[in-house]
Amino acid sequence: MSLSADIASVREEFAEQLQAVQAGEQGAEQLRIAFLGRKGLLAGLYAQLGQLRPGERPAAGEQINGLKSSLEEQIGQLGASSSAAQAAATPATDLTLPGDPLPLGAIHPITQVLERVKAIFGRLGFSIYYGPEVESDFYNFGALNFQPDHPARDMQDTFYTGPDQLLRTHTSNSQIHALENLAPPIRILAPGRVFRNESISTRSHCQFHQIEGMVIDRNVSMGELKGTLAHFAREFFGQDVVTRFRPSYFPFTEPSAEMDIYWGLETENDYRVTKGTGWLEILGSGMVHPNVLKAGGLDPKEWTGYAFGMGIERTSMLLWGIGDIRYFYEGDIRFLMQFRS
Ligand code: DAH
Repeated sequence: MSLSADIASVREEFAEQLQAVQAGEQGAEQLRIAFLGRKGLLAGLYAQLGQLRPGERPAAGEQINGLKSSLEEQIGQLGASSSAAQAAATPATDLTLPGDPLPLGAIHPITQVLERVKAIFGRLGFSIYYGPEVESDFYNFGALNFQPDHPARDMQDTFYTGPDQLLRTHTSNSQIHALENLAPPIRILAPGRVFRNESISTRSHCQFHQIEGMVIDRNVSMGELKGTLAHFAREFFGQDVVTRFRPSYFPFTEPSAEMDIYWGLETENDYRVTKGTGWLEILGSGMVHPNVLKAGGLDPKEWTGYAFGMGIERTSMLLWGIGDIRYFYEGDIRFLMQFRS
């Protein structure tokens, strides 16, 4: 058979199959592949060119090229008309359908506790004061009346980042900055991140959050401290919460006290978290030590004050019964989504 006869039969074959496509019996893409594909009928025709005498090749090549563009055009029209038909067949957008839900995130539990504590003390006239996370020995220890050989200064407990540079181990460093930078009377709440060189476990982490509070004025009494913290506990844990004030020791307060709330001993878990006592310590506090006032540039004969500090993770764990501190930092959606309000 001659090449031109083959060209003619490919053209006829195409006309037939085109009808089948138009009748919906066959797909347009299938047609394109059968004729124009890499192993299609057109490719077969081109392959035959090699068998012709060199003088016959240009004319035959032109014929195949002509067929190819004709087929391409017809297939192209097929696609255009079918997408136009499809568009016409698609109904207009149904505006009565409900919208796609927007996935909403949750506020991190640490932020939630922080916001609640801020709101409670905000109503009592406290304002927010931020101390730095990278600190010197003076602000983190010395000015807070820690003795030079205090074990908290040990490398085992504190991350040192330079000769006199460390990551603060508590938010109490903010007390000294506030004393230096604000004029009394002072009423501040200083939240933030703190760092301790501790191995990571269910109960402890090398970084966590605290909220520090400090009040400086004339004639501030321990009764005022106790009343303020009891008010806080009622606002935070509920009006019928039972609290107790227990003597304690911190270098930067004298006298010092810890506040416990009565948790109860109803379940096995209650025994575990309260170590069988029913009481849970929630914060440390006390009257600002005269040495701290002096270090901050105030005369302890004129000024008095109280301070307190609490751990945010600890409080969140109590509030929601979270058993492992590491959940707070893993960013696991399954944990975080449980705090949607
Ligand atoms: N800084 C203490 C700690 O990290 C907490 C604390 C105790 C803060 C007593 C205070 C305070 O302001 O008066 O454990």
